[in-house]
Amino acid sequence: MTPAEQIDTAHALDIEGVVCRFGALVAVSDISIAIPPGERHAVLGANGAGKTTLFNMISGDITPSAGRIALFGEDITSLPPQRRVLKGLRRTYQKSLVFDGLSVRENLFLAERGVRGRRFSVLAAARNEQENAKTEALAERISLMAKLDSPAGELSHGEQRQLELGMALAGNPRVLLLDEPAAGLSLSERRQLLGMLETLPKTITLVIIEHDLDIALQAADRVTVMHNGRMLAAGTPEEISANQTVHDIYMGKNVN
Ligand SMILES: Nc1ncnc2c1ncn2[C@@H]1O[C@H](COP(=O)(O)OP(=O)(O)O)[C@@H](O)[C@H]1O
Ligand SMILES: [Mg+2]
Repeated sequence: MTPAEQIDTAHALDIEGVVCRFGALVAVSDISIAIPPGERHAVLGANGAGKTTLFNMISGDITPSAGRIALFGEDITSLPPQRRVLKGLRRTYQKSLVFDGLSVRENLFLAERGVRGRRFSVLAAARNEQENAKTEALAERISLMAKLDSPAGELSHGEQRQLELGMALAGNPRVLLLDEPAAGLSLSERRQLLGMLETLPKTITLVIIEHDLDIALQAADRVTVMHNGRMLAAGTPEEISANQTVHDIYMGKNVN
């Protein structure tokens, strides 16, 4: 795509009227979200609201039934997932992709390798030193330096989530989609993970799926609330917490 064909460079992500149908079920119905670079955007909604399906369309794991998705102004609606990764888009999954039998170092190393696809350097020795340095920088960022050589399967649940975050950070992403990063964590583990997200540079735009209203409001600049595949509300945390419809659906209820 030439620069002249680019649509809107003002946004890191432009999601325009996306729809996902599974047979008769409309899992995502006409969702539009524009996310400026550097924003921390939370997607909030009960189980089954369509949040993960929305991520699947952004990452390319599912092709939308309708609508359009642009990354920094470039239409990526029909690009395969790996091409999106090369353009700086990363995601995590609700189900962990960590290799339990491999060490933290090896998991991070594979993530670095995976991001670069098939492009290998001929300078093997230099590459290894460089890759080691990158792996250690990632481990530092997710506070797992002390666990570099521990098998991932022996990490606590919170540490595994940190490792997933580190793997998603491989290769300097520009947009990072996190699917319920704090799910199943204890209060102190949640705090640690949220603290880690706060330290990420604003060169990374973050989209975080949460079903916990308090976490979403605390971690985000803007919030989109989904309900039954539709957009129920969108706004700043202040606007969302003042929204009567969101209150009626969320407040005092177990959204699971
Ligand atoms: N691959 C699929 N095939 C059929 N239905 C699906 C598929 N993935 C998700 N769904 C359905 O779409 C709806 C939204 O699911 P999902 O996006 O996972 O919600 P959330 O992440 O908000 O919990 C649910 O009703 C779910 O059962
Ligand atoms: Mg989900």
